[in-house]
Amino acid sequence: MSTQSAAAPAAIVVEEVSKRFGRVVALDGVSLRVENGEMFALLGPNGAGKSTLIDLLCTIGQADSGSITVNGESAMRHPVRIRRKIGVVFQESTVDTRLTVMENLEFHGLVYQMRRSDRRRRIEEMLDLLELTDWHGTVVRTLSSGMKRRLEIARALMHEPQILFLDEPTLGLDAQSRARIWDYITRLRENENITVLVTTHYLEEVESCDHVCIIDHGRILADGTPTQLKSEHGTALIRATPNAPDVAARIRDRFQGVVDGAEGQIIIPLEETGGVDRLFSEFGSGLQQVEIDQPSLESVFLSLTGRDLREAPPAPARKGGRNA
Ligand SMILES: Nc1ncnc2c1ncn2[C@@H]1O[C@H](COP(=O)(O)OP(=O)(O)OP(=O)(O)O)[C@@H](O)[C@H]1O
Ligand SMILES: [Mg+2]
Repeated sequence: MSTQSAAAPAAIVVEEVSKRFGRVVALDGVSLRVENGEMFALLGPNGAGKSTLIDLLCTIGQADSGSITVNGESAMRHPVRIRRKIGVVFQESTVDTRLTVMENLEFHGLVYQMRRSDRRRRIEEMLDLLELTDWHGTVVRTLSSGMKRRLEIARALMHEPQILFLDEPTLGLDAQSRARIWDYITRLRENENITVLVTTHYLEEVESCDHVCIIDHGRILADGTPTQLKSEHGTALIRATPNAPDVAARIRDRFQGVVDGAEGQIIIPLEETGGVDRLFSEFGSGLQQVEIDQPSLESVFLSLTGRDLREAPPAPARKGGRNA
């Protein structure tokens, strides 16, 4: 039994939320709970419903059914109260590229009716946190993609939100810029005492999160800590590169659960083969390269969705996207 007198309310509670766009069911009875101070990752392929859920949590869209509470407030009844307490980095860039770094931050502070002295202090802190101080006077259109993303995070944090939503913060960035963005996200958790809900396609990025929720076709397939997910759903995988299409076809016929991976690889659950030796004795001469992956979030994703997340590159921004 808990020793606390009253349990702290969760940062986000989603109960049985559904959302359709015409005939497309974007969210289908989604329930989840994000605790205060958590780094919560929503992981899923293109079209899984991640951005739709973020829009509902940010009160930009409304659920068809179900209930959403953010920071103790109902998204249906008190959207404005929620908006004051959250910061958002949308999947599509929304910074004003004609303004300087500083002007973008200043403008955001004005929209949130921050006092002049608070704006000054916060701009300085955010430029420092995201390492943009030397670029404060630079016009945004001349910044690199990674810097623009950093500016969007800085801007989302300007008004000291309690919850930060990051929709694909590393989308389209090179590996080095992605790693850097995650350094900042980790640092801000240490400095800012904030709850972070982040969506991503990149499995390696969710390893450091407290809680991971896997979503596909608008449904939550699993959630838990990375360790829980691996122990409950993870399996060892063989990644093999066949040297001819007919070898791949024969392997698919021979074993259950074989899926296509990136760059011509096929992925076979190790347990299906009865051991890698058996795969070698039957198909060794038809294979160029064979790797064994220990149970990982990748195998969790694969066993839950039947797809390799590496296969699907992130989608570009949708037309008429969310530039609100
Ligand atoms: N405004 C809209 N109008 C019509 N369909 C929409 C709209 N927004 C989302 N959808 C559809 O809802 C489904 C979920 O889309 P959503 O953008 O939430 O997925 P996602 O997980 O964010 O995908 P991605 O990883 O590509 O960003 C998709 O089938 C998408 O085409
Ligand atoms: Mg999206």
